[in-house]
Amino acid sequence: MSVVNQNSRNITDLSPKQDDMFTNVINGLTSNPKTIAPKYLYDELGSKLFEKITDLDEYYQTRTEFDILNQSHVSITKLMGKDVDLIELGSGSSTKTHVLLDEANLNSYMPIDISTTILTSTVDQLEKDYPMLKIHGILADYTQAFSLPELGGNKKVVFFPGSTIGNFEPFEEAMFLKQLSNTLDKGDGLLIGLDLRKDKHIIEKAYNDKQGITAAFNKNLLTRINRELHADFQLENFYHHAYYNVEKSRLEMHLVSNVKQTVHLQDHKIDFAENENIHTENSYKYSINSFQKLCMKCGFKPVEVFEDKNKWFSVHYLEVM
Ligand code: TRP
Repeated sequence: MSVVNQNSRNITDLSPKQDDMFTNVINGLTSNPKTIAPKYLYDELGSKLFEKITDLDEYYQTRTEFDILNQSHVSITKLMGKDVDLIELGSGSSTKTHVLLDEANLNSYMPIDISTTILTSTVDQLEKDYPMLKIHGILADYTQAFSLPELGGNKKVVFFPGSTIGNFEPFEEAMFLKQLSNTLDKGDGLLIGLDLRKDKHIIEKAYNDKQGITAAFNKNLLTRINRELHADFQLENFYHHAYYNVEKSRLEMHLVSNVKQTVHLQDHKIDFAENENIHTENSYKYSINSFQKLCMKCGFKPVEVFEDKNKWFSVHYLEVM
């Protein structure tokens, strides 16, 4: 573990050093059906495009979650209790967290993110905005096990907004929740945002915005692979395709090859049939009940659920059993 202390910055680097992007991408592109791990969507441009997605009119999730947090902050901060070390997973620019930073009784705030650039600028900004609060950034891939530094509060509350848990496969989700409840102590909290099942047209519209930002975000994966792994993907030969798979209750994101073609990745040749897909991401949609059942199997007791009036999105407060 290395502690980076530049200026007043307080950031611990726990990021995985040997993520082998080349091997992962080759394995994904030579399997059937072809896939690329969604974590590679988030290079610098990818993270910026993602922030733009969260502002889109069609993308109801971010503003709905924001409204729920703002409307229910009194109850939520009461449930969280006093002298809390607040830990956020995938904090990005921490915009959703302001209501908690302003209203909750906190000892410290620990934003965790995989992007150095975003984490550093967020920590810098927060130190200016909240001079009285201990801020400790952690550079890490939170889907891997890691231990949390002790910051001396009375309890820990993990904040995991954005329905990011829906991007995990069901088995990964269970493993993640178990690992998290093991890392935390009895009585510690989890405040988590979860997108709910609903009319598939509303969901599909959210991932097929008119401006094409989601498409650009998806295709940036190929740009990144071209740049970092010296591949020769022709961007105009692929298009973004996002649709709701009702049977599996998940939104699927794909890049579709619109011609028969061969792509080169260093010494490897990858053949694409016309209309062949690369599956790039899933976003599972849950019912409140199925999510709570899973949480109970993974060491968390559901305490309270907050929803918007349309019941499109939910924010759950759970406690470690
Ligand atoms: N977790 C959110 C969702 O599934 C945000 C997100 C992750 C997202 N990957 C995405 C949104 C790709 C659009 C496209 O919706």
